[in-house]
Amino acid sequence: MMRSRILVIGGTGNIGRHLVTASLDAGHPTAVLVRPSAVASPPTPGDMNDHGSLVAAMRQHGEVVICAVGQGRPLELDGQLNIIQAIQEAGCVKRFVPSEFGCDVEHAEQTLEPAKSMMESKLRVRQVIREVGIPHTIICSNWAIGLLLSGLNENGPLSTGVNIFGDETTQAIFLDEKDMSRLAIRAVEDPRTLDKVLYVRPPTNVCSFGQLVHLLEKKTGKTLERNYVSEQELAKKIQEAPFPLNFQLAMVHSTLVHAGSFMDTFDASVGVEAAQLYPDVQFVTVEEYLDGIIV
Ligand SMILES: NC(=O)c1ccc[n+]([C@@H]2O[C@H](COP(=O)([O-])OP(=O)(O)OC[C@H]3O[C@@H](n4cnc5c(N)ncnc54)[C@H](OP(=O)(O)O)[C@@H]3O)[C@@H](O)[C@H]2O)c1
Repeated sequence: MMRSRILVIGGTGNIGRHLVTASLDAGHPTAVLVRPSAVASPPTPGDMNDHGSLVAAMRQHGEVVICAVGQGRPLELDGQLNIIQAIQEAGCVKRFVPSEFGCDVEHAEQTLEPAKSMMESKLRVRQVIREVGIPHTIICSNWAIGLLLSGLNENGPLSTGVNIFGDETTQAIFLDEKDMSRLAIRAVEDPRTLDKVLYVRPPTNVCSFGQLVHLLEKKTGKTLERNYVSEQELAKKIQEAPFPLNFQLAMVHSTLVHAGSFMDTFDASVGVEAAQLYPDVQFVTVEEYLDGIIV
């Protein structure tokens, strides 16, 4: 079968690089829009804020456009409104996947700044996509475990200590970035995910923060010193920390300390469950992920 041509915007980023690999692995002709400032002579040069370059790249490479711009930068995420305009003009895009890949931003009432603005920006983009009728799929894939682990402790995640935020029994969903990306690529050609929110929350990947720390200890053979951080202390740290630490801590506050609001959200009018659509997919569990990184 001839695979759809995929254009990735943000393909050099934390999440974008996994999406590019997953797209290539699945056999899609794949192009990455790269700013000329980032790489000398990129094969598909362009900028989200440059309408002409976007339209040209879409016409040449983009039956499917996947965006993975900007962790924690609302202005960067708002730039996706330019992508929507370009999709309308290009007239060839069958599916748009906006930059989400996290929690359900429609249920982010408890979120503190600066994460709040980022979620509001994602929500604006969702609303415009729906208003103007862009064919789309939104991926709600919860925590990217590799990125979370790299931010667990200011002194390094697997060193001697770990911050425990709020209640260590609160559960969240942790996914390998590779699994999250493989599913996103699978979803872009699936009619069942057209104009839907794909919730990726396999039961095998639900874990409390306390369990995650316990697994870390089991794997490393080290007892980690636990530094308990109350919700009030966390709120203070968020206010005082520089970017991007303040953003990461605000995400921890929103999705680990107030995780309940995300664990149970499912809007049946637009939502589809990845575990139901793709029962064959085996997700890397938290324990398996740790096996892969701890030697
Ligand atoms: N669930 C989770 O735990 C989790 C974790 C991380 C991220 N995310 C989400 O995943 C998405 C991507 O985040 P990320 O951390 O991967 O972002 P990132 O590492 O900051 O990467 C941003 C990408 O966007 C590109 N970009 C920025 N401005 C651009 C422009 N004007 N034109 C074209 N490209 C531009 C950057 O290109 P350059 O190389 O030129 O800078 C880079 O490739 C966000 O929605 C974020 O919230 C989720």
